[in-house]
Amino acid sequence: MATTFNDWSVSEAEFHPEKINHSETIFTIGNGYLGTRGAFEEHFPNENRSTFLHGVFDDVPVVFTELANASDWTEMEIFLNGERFSLENGKILAYERRLDLKTATLSRSVRWESPQGHISRLVFERFASLADIHLCGVRVSITAENYQGSIEIRSGLNGNADNLGFLHWNWVGQSAAKNSATLLCRTRSSAIDLCIGLTQTLTASDRTGRSFAWDVHNHPSVVSKIGIEKGETAVATKWVTLATSRDGKKALVQTQRRVHKLSALNWEEAYQAHCAAWENEWNYCDMVIEGDDEAQLAVRFNIFQLLIAAPRSDEHVNIGAKTLSGYGYRGHAFWDTEIFMLPFFTYTRPEIARNLLSYRWHNLPGARAKASANGFNGAQYPWESAATGEEVTPTWVPDPKDHTQLIRIWTGDIEIHISADVSFAIWQYWKASADDEFFAKRGAEVILDTARFWAARAEWVEELQRYEISDIIGPDEYHDHVDNNLYTNALARWNLQRALDTLPWLETHAPAELRRLKKALQIDAAELKKWQHVIDHLYLPYNEKTRLIEQFDGYFARKDVDLAAMEPRSESIQSIFGIEGAAATQVLKQPDVLMLMYLLPDLYDQATLEANYRYYTPRTDHTFGSSLGPSIQAIMACRVGDVTAYEHFMRAARADLFDVRNNAGDGIHGASAGGLWQAVVFGFAGLRYSAADQQWHTHPALPKNWKRVAFKMMIHGKELSFDIHQ
Ligand code: BGC
Repeated sequence: MATTFNDWSVSEAEFHPEKINHSETIFTIGNGYLGTRGAFEEHFPNENRSTFLHGVFDDVPVVFTELANASDWTEMEIFLNGERFSLENGKILAYERRLDLKTATLSRSVRWESPQGHISRLVFERFASLADIHLCGVRVSITAENYQGSIEIRSGLNGNADNLGFLHWNWVGQSAAKNSATLLCRTRSSAIDLCIGLTQTLTASDRTGRSFAWDVHNHPSVVSKIGIEKGETAVATKWVTLATSRDGKKALVQTQRRVHKLSALNWEEAYQAHCAAWENEWNYCDMVIEGDDEAQLAVRFNIFQLLIAAPRSDEHVNIGAKTLSGYGYRGHAFWDTEIFMLPFFTYTRPEIARNLLSYRWHNLPGARAKASANGFNGAQYPWESAATGEEVTPTWVPDPKDHTQLIRIWTGDIEIHISADVSFAIWQYWKASADDEFFAKRGAEVILDTARFWAARAEWVEELQRYEISDIIGPDEYHDHVDNNLYTNALARWNLQRALDTLPWLETHAPAELRRLKKALQIDAAELKKWQHVIDHLYLPYNEKTRLIEQFDGYFARKDVDLAAMEPRSESIQSIFGIEGAAATQVLKQPDVLMLMYLLPDLYDQATLEANYRYYTPRTDHTFGSSLGPSIQAIMACRVGDVTAYEHFMRAARADLFDVRNNAGDGIHGASAGGLWQAVVFGFAGLRYSAADQQWHTHPALPKNWKRVAFKMMIHGKELSFDIHQ
């Protein structure tokens, strides 16, 4: 993308139709209630336009459930003196698209010559209000440069918006009157009602154009028309309000009533309220990097992505791996939230972290059902999660290289570390926020019930007198069906330990909750004894002589590949060697052992960290393996004083802006965005919490070109400011 590195905005100076889906992702806007990709108001071939609303899932064959693309609120068809405005035709004389991160405003300025030689300047602006999450606005100003005549704009609500061919909505009703239109529709299986309405006004100088409703079935619109003089500017303003039955019945009725009042809204006032809400947001969350314009913009861009996807008033939704910005992973949530995105919220916007963690608590029934279906006690969180917390990982997907073949996806069956990841995030949030109420009422239950799952899942091996965990997938998904993956075993043990710490805490601070939980979960002394026994005997691989930790049993015996000798590459190792071929090697999609050492730094000493860093780093597919890897690799590089930290950091920084993996068109890599924030705070700024003196310490290791890093964190409800100079 032709990006210029202005502190606060991402811009595109030319239109590249071949990168249309990538730029739609980059120019996504949102307000934590909805996310809308940056497709053009007037449409363009091969676009993937979408608006996703948090929690609006619907059933779909094979992949179970997905976020349903909702009626498009941005659509505007523009006729300039009878000619349809489209970048496919005519000439683009000037073009710029800009996403202002400070105010979450997307704008586009186009100077366009129609096939008949009429030149117009069009300036589009759109925002999804953060001050009023049920309100969106889009406005276009059109200047007729060398002609006079008419301007006509048809703004619709398209009930036929589909998910790449699959339509989730049934029409329920619609109405249209003069300059407003309303559409009611319902998702086919989940029966979620959506009410969406619009008004449009078109003005030029002191005249208001004529508007009338065009009540086409499932696609009601308002058509506005005005005469225009040469050199004059006409402005069309489209307001949209929307709500779903997830917001309550009242919200639907209110939305229907509100539609008629929308035209009275003043753009400046509503927009200022939105900007003020964003100012407040950045006041907590901004991160300043001086001396490196690209890193500065990338960090703000990635924080922005987290903020527009963050549910502020809904504790029944999570953030999907691709946020609300694309079709990738169908809106499903993974460990990406708890381990990669959540620390940002925990330490800057704890209320949002609480909502996201509450989602896991509300979905305990789904996790219990999964454990029980697998024959275990306790709660086993799904690898991919949607509305209900049931497992929604597809079992088969088409082979990207040959769509006639299917690939078996094992993650939903055996990538089980997510249960400990959820507990880890809860504990981290609790320690950072001191939110005892959340912990006592919700967090503790998750920690106890996931611990119970681990105790049931660990297998006692009589001849070795130890517990093992076999046949799983660790974070490094190049290797499946492995035994004793360090990451999983160590976090399972940690989860059990935290459960044993939780009980006495509850006894002292929330005895009523302890009684409730003991009764509900029926935890008895024998079970607690078993937990301790698993903690004491769960196998964690370690070679005392070399200090090396084998990622899983038999890993060291797999084929060693000289990855450096394969550069330059443009594909992942799995794509080059095939699934089984890659699994037969030591090449990692992401380095589990280092990841574990990041999360549990007190478990191993510095020499062990260094030995493992040296071993695993050259064996990791940094460029095309997991997008989750580079930011954590940057942190670990900082911890061992390796100067490649910056290179890894920039790989994460560019993941979406530069589409380094060629898949940013599917949506933002949310985990990479969260990891980037962590890489600055816990990597370059070197923030570490010491359990010994219960204080935060910094061990800065700023990249050479950085002059200063500044950010804020919320710890125990207090704001701490960090300002680190070279
Ligand atoms: C990664 C997982 C991640 C998932 C969703 C996979 O490619 O290996 O760790 O959770 O993508 O982002």
